[in-house]
Amino acid sequence: MLELRDVQVVFDGFRALDGVDLTVPEGELRFLIGPNGAGKTTLIDVITGLTRPASGSVRFGGDDLVGRKEHQIVRLGVGRTFQTSVVFEELTVLENLDLAASFRKPLWSLTRRRKGVSEAVEEALARTGLEELAGSSAGVLSHGQRQWLEIGMLLAQRPRLLLLDEPVAGMSKDERERTGELLTQIADDHTVIVVEHDMDFLRRHASKVTVLHEGKVLVEGSVEQVSADPRVQEVYLGRRQDAVGNRP
Ligand SMILES: Nc1ncnc2c1ncn2[C@@H]1O[C@H](COP(=O)(O)OP(=O)(O)OP(=O)(O)O)[C@@H](O)[C@H]1O
Ligand SMILES: [Mg+2]
Repeated sequence: MLELRDVQVVFDGFRALDGVDLTVPEGELRFLIGPNGAGKTTLIDVITGLTRPASGSVRFGGDDLVGRKEHQIVRLGVGRTFQTSVVFEELTVLENLDLAASFRKPLWSLTRRRKGVSEAVEEALARTGLEELAGSSAGVLSHGQRQWLEIGMLLAQRPRLLLLDEPVAGMSKDERERTGELLTQIADDHTVIVVEHDMDFLRRHASKVTVLHEGKVLVEGSVEQVSADPRVQEVYLGRRQDAVGNRP
């Protein structure tokens, strides 16, 4: 369903992605790991049209994504979160979700009077467990709740493919656990790609993992296969025991 072939991204002569091949079948929850600067965010940027590859192809469903604008790719059903927050603090949780939901609709429909809460927004609220906070301003949310709101905002756009860049960074243990369950649940009826470093989190929630290193796919496999691979241990600071995921 998502297929990247020989994707190259060059920034001022520096190869951030150096021939990436990646296939993610429909309905999979795929984890993407790799040391700082490996190209994980760049990979998401390429899929979502923020960065144009120098060469290679990116296909999603039947469509070639290369050369399409970001909003066109959103309309094709690809949604993402950013490493930094995009929540409007002065708006309520519900208003943030509503705004996100309207992003995918044609412009003319926004000029019509809208009544009530759309089904997509209701669903996003329920899935992320934020119903009780619907009327609260986003500024008062805890870090974890804010991350869930961002995932909810993505769901409200009804994507088929979700790309999440470090969604559990900075979360408490309980929040991580809830997020892991949420991601597994979302993957029941979506394709999900999650960038995450934390090996404990991966052991609990990941099935298949792709390791990026210096703009290339280094290894792909189960969490056990990947964490036992000497090449993977090597790139994570050359440490032996459980080095994967411990950021400097
Ligand atoms: N717009 C840009 N211009 C120049 N260089 C860039 C740009 N974006 C990324 N890079 C470089 O490309 C490489 C890959 O960056 P990227 O952000 O994809 O890494 P990452 O795997 O997401 O790392 P992190 O774990 O720190 O988030 C890095 O060396 C980075 O400095
Ligand atoms: Mg990144």
